[in-house]
Amino acid sequence: MDLINEILHWLCLYVLLWYAYILLVNKGTPNITTAPAIRKKIIEILSAEAEKSANAPYEIVDMGSGNGGFVRQMAESIPNAKVTGLEIDAIAHWKALFWRAVKKIKNADFLQQSFYDYDLSDTNAVTIFHLGSSMPELREKFSKELKPGAVIAANRFPLGGDYEPSEVIDVSTLAPNQKELYIYRI
Ligand SMILES: C[S@@+](CC[C@H](N)C(=O)[O-])C[C@H]1O[C@@H](n2cnc3c(N)ncnc32)[C@H](O)[C@@H]1O
Repeated sequence: MDLINEILHWLCLYVLLWYAYILLVNKGTPNITTAPAIRKKIIEILSAEAEKSANAPYEIVDMGSGNGGFVRQMAESIPNAKVTGLEIDAIAHWKALFWRAVKKIKNADFLQQSFYDYDLSDTNAVTIFHLGSSMPELREKFSKELKPGAVIAANRFPLGGDYEPSEVIDVSTLAPNQKELYIYRI
């Protein structure tokens, strides 16, 4: 019985610390990666968009890039794109930099900062995977900064408000709660 109590005690402490980390460091959005099938769909859509701007690099920003896996995959799959990952969590940011160096990816960039402080006026496409509670502030930012023709790919949570998706794509994934992909065109 003592052993079970001990295990439960440490388990509760671990869960509490984990929640505290998500709230304080990840600003409430846990560092969970976009499911592979959804990544593939987004890459397919953005590759087609990038083809149209063949002469200039197609600028993609991942808003909250976690460990950078999705940014690296986009950069490798869309060679004429410049992909920037913005991440507030220092540990995740350094992991992203480490793997970019290991994989020698040239067209991916990682910045440790809040995405609210990044100017999106040169950005052609943004990818987001954030809780619905972030959407009012993000909508305001997108309305002010994104240029006509820009694409927003939102995994799982729609932007809401006045933003009507041009496409809602059902993607079959093994990840719990990841299924709908919302595409918006400014
Ligand atoms: C659900 S993860 C998405 C990871 C990656 N974009 C993907 O789709 O695989 C969301 C990330 O956003 C980060 N985040 C939350 N608020 C942020 C902010 N204001 N600025 C930058 N990053 C933020 C969190 O730390 C977390 O790593």
